[in-house]
Amino acid sequence: MGYVIAVHNQKGGTGKSTTATSLAVLLGLLQRDVVLIDSDPQGNATDAMGFKSRRQKGGRGYAEFLQNKRNGRTVVQRKVQRSGMVGSIGVLAATKENLLALEAQLQHPMLSMNTNAVADKIIELAEEKDYVIIDTAPGVTHLSVAALKAADLVIAPVVPTAWAFEGIQEVHNTLEAVRESEIPVWPVMVMATNNKASTSTYQALQEKYGDDVFEQSIRRSGSVEGYEAKGKTLLQVRSTSTAAQDYIAFTQEFLSRMEDE
Ligand SMILES: Nc1ncnc2c1ncn2[C@@H]1O[C@H](COP(=O)(O)OP(=O)(O)O)[C@@H](O)[C@H]1O
Ligand SMILES: [Mg+2]
Repeated sequence: MGYVIAVHNQKGGTGKSTTATSLAVLLGLLQRDVVLIDSDPQGNATDAMGFKSRRQKGGRGYAEFLQNKRNGRTVVQRKVQRSGMVGSIGVLAATKENLLALEAQLQHPMLSMNTNAVADKIIELAEEKDYVIIDTAPGVTHLSVAALKAADLVIAPVVPTAWAFEGIQEVHNTLEAVRESEIPVWPVMVMATNNKASTSTYQALQEKYGDDVFEQSIRRSGSVEGYEAKGKTLLQVRSTSTAAQDYIAFTQEFLSRMEDE
């Protein structure tokens, strides 16, 4: 019985896709059984995982998985490698047109296809895995609502500005609106610099959200900016970058939160 982790913040450009892909890859390297779901039709996580052509050529992915299309594999395995370590993660790619069509269908829920049915399918998938990690789109889409309904916890990446607090509050508000049981929301500060804004945002986050905030922040690293366009993850583009180092420590912190008794 695995965990469903939604990486979510309604604001765009807060490091959701970067955090989701980095965490998934590192967990795969640590031999956990992981599926990464790209629920954003823009497909940034799909591109970073090297499946851009699958997305563009109408291959199978998350939309087809949800629609029970049995003719062909929907979860594709991707081998991951890093300094002598080898692992593998499953990816449910965002096949753009089909995911957009599905999102439109979810606006007019039917018995067979509504956000509860989507959430059930995600939970069912997690039963055979250690972790299902869902990268969500900005805003509140139906696919994000489904991810939040299925989630055991939310990781909310925030950038060090005053908007960080609004972003986390929005996550809490949406959760309250879409589900009855409470789940943890763990903020992580990304794209941090050494300046005063970063330090004071981090302190204020801790004052407000206490131990929910990841101790490990992710630094901004000029060398990885725009890495996703290369069809690679941040860890592959610059494995020695500060951001990559920080994601390794972040993943260790994540695992100690999840797996230490
Ligand atoms: N630690 C980092 N240092 C520098 N650039 C980063 C870092 N993390 C993400 N980025 C860049 O910031 C942009 C937004 O990140 P992304 O993960 O796509 O956010 P979101 O999914 O929330 O929109 C991307 O172009 C990405 O390359
Ligand atoms: Mg994204």
